[in-house]
Amino acid sequence: MSLGTTMKSSIGAKALMAITGIILVLFVIGHMIGNLQVFLGPDALNQYAHTLQSLGPILWVIRLALLTTLIAHIWSAAVVVRMSVAARPVDYRHRKDLATGFAARTMLVSGIVVALFIVYHVLHFTTGTIDMAQSYGHLLPDGGHDVYKMVVEGFQHPFTTIVYCLATVVLCLHLSHGISSLMQTLGVRKDSNAACIDKVGPVLAAIILIGNLSIPLAALTGLIK
Ligand code: HEM
Repeated sequence: MSLGTTMKSSIGAKALMAITGIILVLFVIGHMIGNLQVFLGPDALNQYAHTLQSLGPILWVIRLALLTTLIAHIWSAAVVVRMSVAARPVDYRHRKDLATGFAARTMLVSGIVVALFIVYHVLHFTTGTIDMAQSYGHLLPDGGHDVYKMVVEGFQHPFTTIVYCLATVVLCLHLSHGISSLMQTLGVRKDSNAACIDKVGPVLAAIILIGNLSIPLAALTGLIK
């Protein structure tokens, strides 16, 4: 079977979705740990941002690899959804999903919301195109980008903070089921360890929820200035 045929099979698409899912989860955790340095003060966050920027061409390779991973994740999800709809004899609207939870039933919608949020987020902080608090473009004395000021000021606008908080809740809903599901796909979950493995997704999602909500809320409430 060719690689193309394997990927279009349900198992191949699910495996690709799981592997790209792991990479994206690792990015979200790494990105959160980096951003939490906002609580250590301007120097720590700006130094971190400066280190990333100074990677130069390597940063572009990382960005391209991340974008490719995200596109592969969305594409494999589309293949899996199309196949499960085609395999379902009953009308989609009358299906009964009582055995699965809310997060599992809303994976498609939460995935679409997260994808839209990523576009919004890049236009907000990376390009400064959508910036209701006019926070983009502050420079440090050495000419570097003042990321600390941009983040703290950026979240002074309640609309922006509400968008980030809602997107974070939806992201964590997606991760809560996604992490459990990928461990099932990769065969990590067995009858013997199911009780323990089933907690990993919700626990990681809760940690990411608290970490990512804390930043906009701390800025909006004046805890970080
Ligand atoms: C409160 C939560 C978050 C904060 C404070 C935050 C902060 C930032 C900042 C400051 C940048 C721009 C860095 C720079 O230009 O130097 C950035 C870029 C980015 N963020 Fe976030 N982020 C958050 C959540 C997320 C989430 C949940 C995702 C993904 C699901 C995400 C994905 C990205 C991506 C893809 C970029 C572009 C990276 C690049 O172009 O180099 N962020 N973020």
